[in-house]
This record gives sequence, C-alpha cells and structure tokens, in this order.
Amino acid sequence: MPTNTSNTEPRKILVTAALPYANGALHLGHMLEYIQTDIWVRFQRLRGHQCQWIWAVDGHGTPIMLKAEAEGVTPLELITRFKHEHERDIAGFLLSPDNYHTTHSEENRELAELIYRRALDAGYIVKRTIAQLYDAEKDMFLPDRYVKGTCPNCGKPDQYGDNCEHCSATYDAIELKNPVSVVSGSTPVSRDSEQHFFALSKYTEWLKDWTTSGTLQPEIANKVKEWLDSGLQDWDISRNAPYWGFEIPDAPGKFFYVWLDAPIGYIASHKNMLDQSGEDFMQSWNADADGELYHFIGKDIANFHTLFWPALLDVAGMRKPDGVFCHGFLMVDDAKMSKSRGTSVTAETYLKHLQPEYLRYYYAAKLNAGVADFNLQLDDFTQRVNADLVGKVVNIASRCAGFISKQFDGMLAQDLPADQKAEYQKFVTAEAQIAEHYEAREFGKAMRDIIQLAEYANGYIADAEPWVKIKDESQRDDVQAICTAGLNYFRVIMTYLSPVLPELAEKTASFLNCELTLDAIESPLVNHKINKFKPMMARLEESSINKIIEETRESAADDAANASATGNQSVEPLKAEIDYADFDKCDFRIARIVDAQPVEGADKLLQLTLDIGNETRNVFAGIKSAYDPATLVGRHTVMIANLKPRKMRFGLSEGMVLAAGPGGGDLFILSPDDGAAPGMQVK
Ligand code: 2FM
Ligand code: ZN
Repeated sequence: MPTNTSNTEPRKILVTAALPYANGALHLGHMLEYIQTDIWVRFQRLRGHQCQWIWAVDGHGTPIMLKAEAEGVTPLELITRFKHEHERDIAGFLLSPDNYHTTHSEENRELAELIYRRALDAGYIVKRTIAQLYDAEKDMFLPDRYVKGTCPNCGKPDQYGDNCEHCSATYDAIELKNPVSVVSGSTPVSRDSEQHFFALSKYTEWLKDWTTSGTLQPEIANKVKEWLDSGLQDWDISRNAPYWGFEIPDAPGKFFYVWLDAPIGYIASHKNMLDQSGEDFMQSWNADADGELYHFIGKDIANFHTLFWPALLDVAGMRKPDGVFCHGFLMVDDAKMSKSRGTSVTAETYLKHLQPEYLRYYYAAKLNAGVADFNLQLDDFTQRVNADLVGKVVNIASRCAGFISKQFDGMLAQDLPADQKAEYQKFVTAEAQIAEHYEAREFGKAMRDIIQLAEYANGYIADAEPWVKIKDESQRDDVQAICTAGLNYFRVIMTYLSPVLPELAEKTASFLNCELTLDAIESPLVNHKINKFKPMMARLEESSINKIIEETRESAADDAANASATGNQSVEPLKAEIDYADFDKCDFRIARIVDAQPVEGADKLLQLTLDIGNETRNVFAGIKSAYDPATLVGRHTVMIANLKPRKMRFGLSEGMVLAAGPGGGDLFILSPDDGAAPGMQVK
C-alpha cells in the first residue's frame, strides 16, 4: 500500500480493470468490476491526485478466431465491432477510463516482443516438445476447451479437455478417452510439437516474497500460498498456428498465448495514450519508476495477476503492481447469473430501461474490499435506491430549493443559522473518515456514513419546518437561512457522492451554480445565487426491472431457437429403450436438503446432505453453477435413493438428485410441489 494516502501530496496512480474479451457483450457482472474501479479512480481524482485508468479490449485467442470464422468476418472486424459496443456501454455507465485501447495493436506487439526477448535473454524461456491433440480436418491444434471426450477418471462421456464436470478430476486433454474435436466433430490425433515455456518454476522463491509483501488481500494471499507450496509448473506461452494473436519472433508458426499479451495490453494502452502527448511511458514502467500501480480484477483470474504477471514484469526489469484488488462474482437474487432466468443482463439491456446511477449506487452501497460474491438482490436494489437516493439525498434539495427560488429570488442567505455552523463543520470533517473508506475500497462503509449525513439534514429540515415558518412574515429570514443550511448540506453530500454519482453531481453543480470540490466545501455557500431546481432523479420503478428480466429471457430463448435452427444446439440422443421392470427398479424419493456446501477443489459440485425420512444421505451433485448453496437449504427435491453408493475423490456419494438444465452448465434441481415430505416415494 502507498505510504501517503492523504490529500496533501499529489500521488501518481495507474489503475487497470481486467480487459474484456472482444467476442461478447458487457453484462452486469463486468459492470461490478468496472464500477468499482471507476469509483476508486474518480475518488482519487476528487482528492487531487493524478489517477489514470488505462484499459483495452482483449482481442486475441481461439474463441475470437472461431467466432469470427462462424460469422464470416475477419477477427479484426469482430474485435472492432465489439470494441465499439464496449465503448458505447462504457459511456452509458459513466465510466471514465483515460484510454480504451486494444491488445491487437502495434504498441502491444512491440511490448510483447520486448518482454519476451528480455525473458529469453535472461534464460527464462525454455523450449520443450509436448504431445497435443490435433484436428486434422481443421488443420489445427486443439485448446483444452475445444476437445470433448470420456473422463479418464470416472468414465463420464462428453467432458472437456481440462477437467471433468462430473467427478471434477483435472487432466491433460491428451488423456481423454474417445476424444472428439468440438470444432469439426472429427477424432483428433496426438501430435508432438515444440512449445515455448516461461520458466515460472524458477520464480517460486521470488514469488513467495512478493506475494507476502502486502500487495494481496489476505484471502488471495492464502490461495496463492497453496499454489506456491504445491509447486509451480513452467508456463506454456506459445500456441501453434492457426492462432489469432502475435507471432513469436524467430519462431514462425508459433504465436503468443493470449494470456501472455493480454496484461501487456495494460502497458500498451498507456503507451498509446502518452504517445499522443509525446511523454515517455517507460518512465512509469521501469523497475524503479515512481508512482503506484493497481489492478482491479475478478478472483477467477488472480493466478495470472499474482504469479505470471509479476514474474514476467520482474524478468523484464519492469515495475510490479502495488496492489491486485480482487472481487467476487456477481450473483442475482442469490443465484449465479442465468440467461434462462433472465438475470444475465447485458449493459445494453439495462441501459434501455434504467439509469446507470441506480446500479452504481447499489454496487457502491454493498461493495467492500473482500472477495466474497456480491448479491444483486432485485427487491433490495429498488428499495435501497428509492429510500437512499430519492428519499434522502435528492429530497434535501427538493425540500429547500422552492423556497429559495420563489421567495428569495434564488439568493442564499448571508450566513448559516447560528446553530448550524458547528454542524456544517462536522459535515466537512466527516471527509477524513469517508475518504479512508473509499481509499480502502470499503465503499459500503463510505455510503453508510454519507447517508447518515443525509439523515441528519432531513431531520434538521423536518424539525425546522420552513413550510410553517414561511407563513409568518417575521420568520422569512429564518426560512432563508434554514434552506441555505439544507442546500449546503446537500452540496457536501453530493461532493462526497460524486465518485459514485457523477451525473447527479454535475446536475447539482449546475443547480447550485458552484463547484463540487473538497476545497470548495470547506466554506459554506452563502450570499450566492443559485439556479432553478429541476427534478434530479426519478424513483426506480420495479416495472422497469421486470422489463429487463423479460427482455433478457426472450433474447435467451431467441438464441436457443437460432442455435436449434442452425443445428448448433447439442441435444443428447435418446438412450436405448428399457422395460418397465427396469424402470421400476429405481426408487425415487422426496429429499429435504438439510445442508449444502461447496466442495473444496471441485468447480461444479455441491455437497448435499439429504433427509429422506428415516435416514440422511451424502450426495455430490453437479449443480454449483446454478445455486448459491445457502439458498438450497430447506428445499425439497427428488433423489434416486437405491443407487449403489459411489466413491468419489471427495467422499462417498449415496445416490443422485434429479436435475435438468438448458445446457452450458446450468442444472436445476427438480422441485416438488408443496405437500411433499422427506421419504415419500415418487411414482
Ligand atoms: O478473463 C478475461 O476476461 C480476460 N480477458 C481478462 C484479461 S485481463 C488482462 F490481463 F489483460
Ligand atoms: Zn470424471
């Protein structure tokens, strides 16, 4: 952490958010990170620091190459289109990056080559021949996610080349039984090829020091320690042609893996920006550069940013980050975002129906510096925005503005009421604590403190009753002073909220005809002419949220219909017919979920404790992507109870729950109607 976080000496800060891939729309999950980043960046600028947010679209890799091919466009056309879409949504959500560049740029090619050559010269690039699956029909080596086959561990068919969704075993694609290329449907063959590895294993000791030097959040530091303790493998940074990316110098037909040049894209974006003013970007990136560097990312890409990235920067003699700030995943109403439930909302769909500042505020109100998942509770979202922003903050202005403009020709009083001078000072000094919360990314605590100020201001106006006093000519001056105090409180509150609500802050500045800066609020606005008040923020209507969910659901249904019409949807073929007697062997029972827990080391599984009347069962079910485990407890489902127990890596699984899903990982448990009781037989 920086030594100086006060407002006195200007800091020079570089900030990044993760670079979104150029093959999809931005959604509210992306926005959680970008809004968190934007609030922090705007807060630093509000305090007078130089804070630059350098950002870009992540434009390389196999998924982009194949999507472009499927759409009949070039990869460059595809990334250009998505870059424009992203830029539209970035502006729509009032994000304020200083540059939104692309990793497919000359600056990035140069820098990737430079860093690679420095690693090579230092002896950190090693070549090794490895066997990989090769699709002879498409003439390409297959990345793990582009090959499916039977799990070598449990025998479950239709598993990806990196891990089994059924038993969670991890393996090399080459170990899959009956492999099939997802790209062409043909059977791939094993082929040897020489790859370039970054000797990450040699960085183990250095990384042990770096990752315990206070740069990481405690939860992430613990996870990183596990990785380091279990030993680091060298990292394959090359891919064979055809690949959409940068060709490796002096290695024709070999390309940098997308994750090599993606983070280098941070530097390239900075270079692209500074080249325009002729400044030397390297001054900020040399090993001894001053200033600070922070990365905002999701916890799922922590390994790239806490291991590969600092090691690469170090071998290249460049500066390392001062902080890697991870956040959790976005959940909507306690469940993972889902297209079929309409909760995987794109930025574009949201903006069609709702203002960006509603979401910016809700995210701020619930964000902290931890890595726990974030729950966007839709009812709470409506209630919180209306209660806090409309009911408390904007209400201060709307209660005071009319009197000042109609009765006093827009002029604020000569002074605050005598009994409010000390209170006003308290508002001003509240800055120190609020700033500390912002700095520490404890935005929820900052919002709580600010809303407490708004509650005080509302209480003050309610008690002072200017609407009663105005009827008495002798109290006119009091009314002017009361409303002057109210509007000054509003100004301070909106200054503190300006990193979160930049548009509302702008409207406030033009209404109050003044600046919203930390220096300016040190003295109250008095004897000052303000402008006419215009409504600043409408209530958030629940009907708009319903429209968003409905529209998202419809577009998911359209996608599914299109996929089916073009034969892209994978519908499992029916298995062979069985006799009734075979079916009758299955004993289906109603089960009550007594407990549900994530399974350490298994991405897809939840461990369920099921009450089936006269006994409890332990069952591992592949439903993690669809549920927050806590929300399952107490629910009923159906299980097959006489299945032979099966030994899994994580323990014994005593039966299976019935689940169905639209594909793509989401599996939903069957939920019997009310009246079902544990142990009931299902016929
Ligand atoms: O996970 C992702 O979406 C990547 N595109 C993030 C890249 S961040 C940085 F390293 F470039
Ligand atoms: Zn398996």
